[in-house]
Amino acid sequence: MKIGIGNDHAAVELKNIISEHLKERGCEVVNFGTDSTESFDYPIAGYKVGRAVADGDVDLGILICGTGVGISLAANKVEGAVVCSEPFSAKLSRMHNNTNVLAFGARVVGSELAKMIVDEWLDAEFEGGRHERRVNMLKEIDETGHLKIVDEAE
Ligand code: RB5
Repeated sequence: MKIGIGNDHAAVELKNIISEHLKERGCEVVNFGTDSTESFDYPIAGYKVGRAVADGDVDLGILICGTGVGISLAANKVEGAVVCSEPFSAKLSRMHNNTNVLAFGARVVGSELAKMIVDEWLDAEFEGGRHERRVNMLKEIDETGHLKIVDEAE
C-alpha cells in the first residue's frame, strides 16, 4: 500500500516515527511534508496529500501538524479527511465514513498512541451498506454545497 504523508514544522519528529512505522508495516511512504523545523504553512502539505489521494497517486494519506486540525481542513477541500486523537474514532472513521486521509496532532498525541491510531485506521475496512448512502450525501454537499433531503432515514 502506498501512503502519502504530510506535516508542518510542529510534526517533523512524529512524521519520521510514523513513516518508519508504516515502512515496518510494509507500506511505501511518499513524503509531502517538510523535514525542517522552520515555520511551514500546513495548508501546503494538507493540499498536496489530499490531491495525491484524490488523483490516485497514493492509496491513503496521513497528516500531522500541531493539532491535526489545520492540515485536515486543507486536505478536506479535496478529499475526505478526519482528525482523530484516539484509535476508536480512527477505526470507525474508516468503517462508517470511508475516510481516505487521517490526521492527528503532534502536540496532542504521543508517538505510541499515534502508532495505535494509524494501525486501527489502516486495519479497518469500509462497511458500505447504509454508510454508503451517508457518505454519498457528504459527497453531494461537498460537490454542490447543498443536500437534497429526500427521506429522513434512520
Ligand atoms: C502551527 O503553529 C500550528 O498552528 C499548526 O501546526 C496546527 O496546529 C494548525 O492547525
